[in-house]
Amino acid sequence: TPPELIRNFCIIAHIDHGKSTLADRMLQLTGVVDARAMRAQYLDRMDIERERGITIKSQAVRMPWEVDGTTYALNMIDTPGHVDFTYEVSRSLAACEGAVLLVDAAQGIEAQTLANLYLAMENDLTIIPVLNKIDLPAAQPEKYAEELAKLIGVEPEDCLRVSGKTGAGVEPLLDTIVAKLPAPVGNPDAPARAMIFDSVYDTYRGVVTYVRVVDGNLNPRERIVMMSTKATHELLEIGVISPEPVPSKGLGVGEVGYLITGVKDVRQSRVGDTVTNASKPATKDLGGYRDPKPMVFSGLYPIDGSDYPDLREALDKLKLNDAALVYEPETSAALGFGFRCGFLGLLHLEIVRERLEREFGLDLISTQPNVVYDVTMDDGKQVHVTNPSEYPDGKIREVSEPVVRATILAPTEFVGAIMELCQQKRGNLRGMDYLSEDRVEMRYTLPLAEIVFDFFDQLKSRTRGYASLDYEPDGEQVADLVKVEILLQGETVDAFSAIVHKDKAYAYGVMMASKLKDLIPRQQFEVPIQAAIGSRIIARENIRAIRKDVLAKCYGGDISRKRKLLEKQKEGKKRMKMVGRVEVPQEAFIAALSSD
Ligand code: GTP
Repeated sequence: TPPELIRNFCIIAHIDHGKSTLADRMLQLTGVVDARAMRAQYLDRMDIERERGITIKSQAVRMPWEVDGTTYALNMIDTPGHVDFTYEVSRSLAACEGAVLLVDAAQGIEAQTLANLYLAMENDLTIIPVLNKIDLPAAQPEKYAEELAKLIGVEPEDCLRVSGKTGAGVEPLLDTIVAKLPAPVGNPDAPARAMIFDSVYDTYRGVVTYVRVVDGNLNPRERIVMMSTKATHELLEIGVISPEPVPSKGLGVGEVGYLITGVKDVRQSRVGDTVTNASKPATKDLGGYRDPKPMVFSGLYPIDGSDYPDLREALDKLKLNDAALVYEPETSAALGFGFRCGFLGLLHLEIVRERLEREFGLDLISTQPNVVYDVTMDDGKQVHVTNPSEYPDGKIREVSEPVVRATILAPTEFVGAIMELCQQKRGNLRGMDYLSEDRVEMRYTLPLAEIVFDFFDQLKSRTRGYASLDYEPDGEQVADLVKVEILLQGETVDAFSAIVHKDKAYAYGVMMASKLKDLIPRQQFEVPIQAAIGSRIIARENIRAIRKDVLAKCYGGDISRKRKLLEKQKEGKKRMKMVGRVEVPQEAFIAALSSD
């Protein structure tokens, strides 16, 4: 297809504003998927995505659309819908010339609407503002058209109105995409340069890589080079998705499609990388490539220790499909053998954990997630800490922690409550704008550790669910941090160590000590539970001793009852972990680690 007849676009929206429903309707109207074959939310392939209603993996579909007798090729590129995947979103946007900015006409602009809009603007995309769900009785298209128009600097009449549900307004939207979005431009005679915006592992075909060609041509059976690694591969197949893969004779300037090289690991075909021809390679890549960087770490342990090999195998498999997942074996005195895993963020962690449990049938326990710290010792030595138990002893000069740039959107009545919360969470206000009389956008710098802890829940409860939050990594800051350790009878319980701000160390210590006091059964001897910073004890609880002579009850009783009791005790012992001399039921660890 000549570039003049191509339009590449994506739909950006806040979660639940109806992106998938609108995409489905477009597939149907352009005849790519017929109504009978239409499965709700065609683009969300993974079960977890469907159940949670979120989109993790982006995909691209080509749709024909006729305007005034000319048939155009519309490539719709699906973007992932959550903060953890900002980088993937930015690469998907970079593959487009324009974006449909979709806003629920009953909700108005939300934090993710803005965050995505900013990303789209950074990529110089042409924005088509659209109000969705106009069929809803609660829709207020007039009001929100004004908000939206003001935000992007157009007239309220320029905002289209559609219903992904009924299909109203969707045909005019497709016409507008053709009319308003620029056609792709590139040099057809230059060496090929194509950007990878997604890479998905398929059990049967190996890695399927989604690309947008900027210059030149990619042809089947030729050799290609991945510019970040210089690795070369044979192009076994290349084509477009419409809505199933259709092999083609190659992809040229402006085209969007997939390629298959037979590699088995998404790390060999990385999002953001540039693909070129091996025979006449481009000299300069397209830029913007970044290694995925894990931001949040957590220990994952099988509840049943004998599942450890299965957990390893499951992680090895998941990794093929997830370039951002990292892990290495670790042992914990409390939890046994497991893995220290790194994730892009909390949602990524949850998704991986859920897939391990659901697809691989594992029962897991995970430690309190933590961020990554850079510690500088007094002698200048640097330590990169991904696990609180690795936090160095000795004289520390400085500790830095990752921070995020957060966008919070809420009704104006909650400004005070939000400021108070952000203050508590060590936030710095960077700016504030009124989108309309009753809605405000607040921009904060916040430590990622606070977000990982319970920021979102707190925000929701203080604003009765009306606030929305989006954030992206924004470097590091030096902070006054300490490691709090929890000791049982003088022995550190590694799984409960945490790095916290100095002002919060006491609260953390008291909370953990009293939690454990309730969870650990009394023993034959007194057990002190202590929270400590280095050698300084900051909180203490005691579990009083008991003399537990179970057999005493059975004096004179029959022998079989006695045996049963002994057996039951043995059963129980198996699920006990020893911390020094203290027997701790595994449930106590699980309960203490689960957030409530
Ligand atoms: P994420 O993938 O989670 O970002 O959600 P999404 O933006 O793709 O939203 P989705 O299409 O899943 O729609 C969210 C909810 O809104 C669903 O319950 C849809 O049925 C409903 N919905 C979507 N479009 C419309 C519409 O035009 N009218 C009405 N009444 N409901 C809609």
